Amino acid sequence: MSKVFNVGIIGPGKIANRFASCFQYVPQAKVYAIASRDAGKAKEFAKTYGASKYYSSYEELLKDPAVDLVYIATPHPFHFEQTLLCLKHGKPVLCEKPLALNLKQVRQMTDMAKETNTFLMEGMWSRFFPAVHKTLDLIKSGVIGDIKALHADFGFSGIPNPEGRLYNMKLGGGAQLDVGVYPMFFALLVLGKPDEIKAFSQLASTGADTTTHALLKYKSGATAHILSSIVTDSPKDGHIMGTLGRIILNTPWHKSEKVTVRLNSGEITEYAFPHSGNGFEYQLQEVVRCLEAGKKECDQMPHSMSLLMAETSDEIRRQGGVRYAED
Ligand SMILES: NC(=O)c1ccc[n+]([C@@H]2O[C@H](COP(=O)([O-])OP(=O)(O)OC[C@H]3O[C@@H](n4cnc5c(N)ncnc54)[C@H](OP(=O)(O)O)[C@@H]3O)[C@@H](O)[C@H]2O)c1
Repeated sequence: MSKVFNVGIIGPGKIANRFASCFQYVPQAKVYAIASRDAGKAKEFAKTYGASKYYSSYEELLKDPAVDLVYIATPHPFHFEQTLLCLKHGKPVLCEKPLALNLKQVRQMTDMAKETNTFLMEGMWSRFFPAVHKTLDLIKSGVIGDIKALHADFGFSGIPNPEGRLYNMKLGGGAQLDVGVYPMFFALLVLGKPDEIKAFSQLASTGADTTTHALLKYKSGATAHILSSIVTDSPKDGHIMGTLGRIILNTPWHKSEKVTVRLNSGEITEYAFPHSGNGFEYQLQEVVRCLEAGKKECDQMPHSMSLLMAETSDEIRRQGGVRYAED
């Protein structure tokens, strides 16, 4: 029988609960250990997901030799130090998006992964959906011709709490890093590094961007419009527009279960990809494949993409006037 990878989760909050729920669809991995600053919370989470171990400090979990992979699920400003700590302990890391607050941090993290020869991947879960694989195949097939425009958005109406993660700059507040990274990632995945960026943000009194628009311009003649918001519920559309037609990742595009191709000729083709679980299973399956193959980074979500994402986000934030102390 193939190995079952023991996953240790640090920061059992909202997203950790969603991630832990996908293990029933990935038999090659199990929730093995939980670490929280609060022992009671760790114990409760361990009980809910059947983990054998729980720890009241993150470092204790890293000292457990049975942990094969650490999933970091804390707010963004903690990703940097925690990832470095995991790598120093030789633990492979799957870290929630964004990998860190800025390019400077992401560079140090990817350098450390290389130095320690240890797996590191940013948890950009949208990358692994069958609908995204299909979209890339369709683009490659030339069915929509040359890409001229891309639109992707991700906005929701969040609780305007100046102390909370969404608004508090000390917790990495702001739309761009919370949800803007998704449409930005989509544009970078499809079109690559832009030749020019124009960005504009609305700011809250805390300094967090509540809505950010960015236009990415390409010498190929393509333009991407990306929108993120923590004050309004956007359509969550993902459209790629070519000279012969459009590819639509059906709403919400970032975890789409259907791809539609609408050609200028009037022909419409739909491809359905119903999820078994909540969608996190695709990302976990890919991480397991990487670990089984002894890979130190994932071909589908390589360090170069995390570096490009951080570089692009830095520029969007610079133009939008969004700054963290860590910048
Ligand atoms: N992939 C996705 O779809 C998705 C969705 C939502 C969020 N995310 C990402 O996941 C990360 C966590 O988001 P979340 O909404 O799950 O966060 P959260 O519930 O607010 O916090 C997660 C955990 O981080 C620790 N933490 C929280 N505030 C802290 C503080 N002030 N100082 C130190 N530790 C703190 C806590 O762990 P303890 O138990 O140790 O106290 C908490 O349980 C973010 O980077 C976010 O971008 C991803």
